Order: sequence, then C-alpha cells, then structure tokens
Amino acid sequence: MTRRVLITGAAGMLGRRLVEAFESGWSVVPATRRDMDVTDLDASRRFVKEAAPHVVIHAAAYTDVDGCEKDPDRARRTNGIGTRNVAIATRDSGADLLYVSSDFVFDGTQSGAYHEWDAPRPISVYGESKLWGEHFVRDLLTRFWIVRTQWVFGPDGKNFVDTIRTRAGTTGELHVVNDQRGSPTYTVDLASEIRRIVDSGGHGVYHVSNGGECTWHEFAVEIVKQAGLKNVRVLEIGSAELARPARRPTNSVLANTHLELTIGRHMRPWRDALAHYLQQKTESK
Ligand SMILES: NC(=O)c1ccc[n+]([C@@H]2O[C@H](COP(=O)([O-])OP(=O)(O)OC[C@H]3O[C@@H](n4cnc5c(N)ncnc54)[C@H](OP(=O)(O)O)[C@@H]3O)[C@@H](O)[C@H]2O)c1
Repeated sequence: MTRRVLITGAAGMLGRRLVEAFESGWSVVPATRRDMDVTDLDASRRFVKEAAPHVVIHAAAYTDVDGCEKDPDRARRTNGIGTRNVAIATRDSGADLLYVSSDFVFDGTQSGAYHEWDAPRPISVYGESKLWGEHFVRDLLTRFWIVRTQWVFGPDGKNFVDTIRTRAGTTGELHVVNDQRGSPTYTVDLASEIRRIVDSGGHGVYHVSNGGECTWHEFAVEIVKQAGLKNVRVLEIGSAELARPARRPTNSVLANTHLELTIGRHMRPWRDALAHYLQQKTESK
C-alpha cells in the first residue's frame, strides 16, 4: 500500500522540496495556507481528517525573525498554537508527525556545536515560538520527529545566497556580519534527509544541517567566489552595527549526531551544496 504524507507549508522554500522528495514511493498531499491555515484548529482537523495521511510533515511557520519580534502574537499564534493545532489534528487522525524546528531554540553561547540533547534557551520571539511548538509536539504525541535545521537556502525562496548575488551585482560592496556561526543548509539535501528519517521509522529529535561551519561573512565570500562575481568587496561588520530587532545566536552550529549514529548519514559540506545550487540556477536559466 502506498503511504500518504501531508506537508504543511507546501508552497514555502523547504515545503516545495519536501513535496519533490516524497513524490516517488509516497502519495503526497501538499497543504498551503489556503488549504489549511494552521492557526485554525477546526480547519486543520478537517483537512487532515479528509486527507487521512500516515505522516504529517509540518513545515509551515511564520519565518520572518525580525517580524516575529515586532508582532509576537502572530509568531506565537502561528508557530506555537499553529503547531499545537497540527499536532492535535495529526493525533486525531492516527498519523505520525514530523515538525521542522530551528537552531534559534538555542542561545548560541555554547563553544562547540549543539547536540540534540543540549538544553534549548531561545533569545528571540521566533526562537521561543518554535520551542513552544516543540513542547506541543512532545506533549500531545508519542510518535513524532523534531528536525532542527538552520541557515536554509534553495530555490523558490528569499534566501541569503540570492540576496548576496543580487546586492553584489548592484553595489559592488557588501557589509556582512562576522560574529555569528552556523552551517548553511541546502533545502534539497534537507528534504532528502527528512525523507530518510521518516522512512527509517526511528522517532525522536534530529539535527540536520550541511557539513562544516562558517560565519555569514565567510558564507558571503564563498558565494561571491563560486558565483564568479568580479570586483566585489565583502567587508566584515559586527551584528551590533545592523541593530536588527531580533537577537541572533552567536554560535548555533548543529551537530547531526542522531542522523550519523542511526541512519549513518554524513551530510555533504555546505560548500559542495552551494556549488550544486549555483549550478542548478545556471542550468535553469
Ligand atoms: N529558512 C531558514 O533558514 C530556516 C531555519 C531553521 C528552521 N526553519 C524552519 O523550516 C520550516 C520551513 O521554512 P522555510 O524557510 O521554507 O520558510 P518559508 O519559505 O517562509 O515557508 C513557510 C510557509 O509557511 C506558510 N505559512 C505561514 N503561516 C501559515 C499559516 N498560518 N497556515 C499555513 N501556512 C502558513 C507560508 O505561507 P505564506 O507564504 O502564505 O505566508 C509559507 O509557505 C519552518 O518551520 C521554519 O521555521 C527555517
């Protein structure tokens, strides 16, 4: 029997790649905001019941980190209560739930990479709301996965790689922060790892990010280099100079320990993933 997966946030940057990753071997029910607004419990219940999935992947979220700071109720309603609603709908339909969470649940003060067992302590409204979502998943379900990821880039979304390429083309000089560390993560790789995790049946918390780590400045330098952009200066600045509404973790590198020990997967280095993304963009022009 073909198993059915329902994917929330299906029109988002990750959602689109998740739909692709499950297309062979699974029957996919993509759910956009129009199909199922996750802030509406009754609508979520109705849509999930009708679809009767075996697995729900919850990738919908309010992802504007600074927007969350300015409108905390929207963040809490979408990322907290919205996840509660999806968890209730999933439980009522007897399915398993995979919730996509974030490195922003950590405060970023740890010196090494964060493992799945490290204690979350968010420092932004976005991070708090994603952690609240994690709590609902743990409290309401027994068969779930929580997949934390970070610094996501890929086609069909507003992402750092495209922003740097566009800005480099127009200004020739970029100012990029050098005091936040993480691992850039490619949606194509993330979506296929999520599929492996679901197929494995081994529930729990997973960190999933591409290999290696860098600062945003180092990431920008590599984008400019790989994209072959000439006469572009990438200058280092501190986060304080940007004065953005939300605080960001200084170090939020994630260790993919659960993935490596159980599924045996080592994610490819972020530089190789970036090369693949840029190559795909060139070919699709
Ligand atoms: N991007 C990153 O760097 C990053 C890092 C760590 C974790 N994550 C997590 O990864 C997941 C996917 O993120 P993404 O980068 O693909 O974000 P995205 O492109 O912003 O996609 C999120 C999707 O959620 C939908 N959505 C928002 N509010 C909704 C609601 N009330 N009901 C139903 N759908 C709603 C959005 O629809 P609209 O367009 O209509 O608003 C959008 O299609 C999220 O859970 C995010 O927290 C992302």
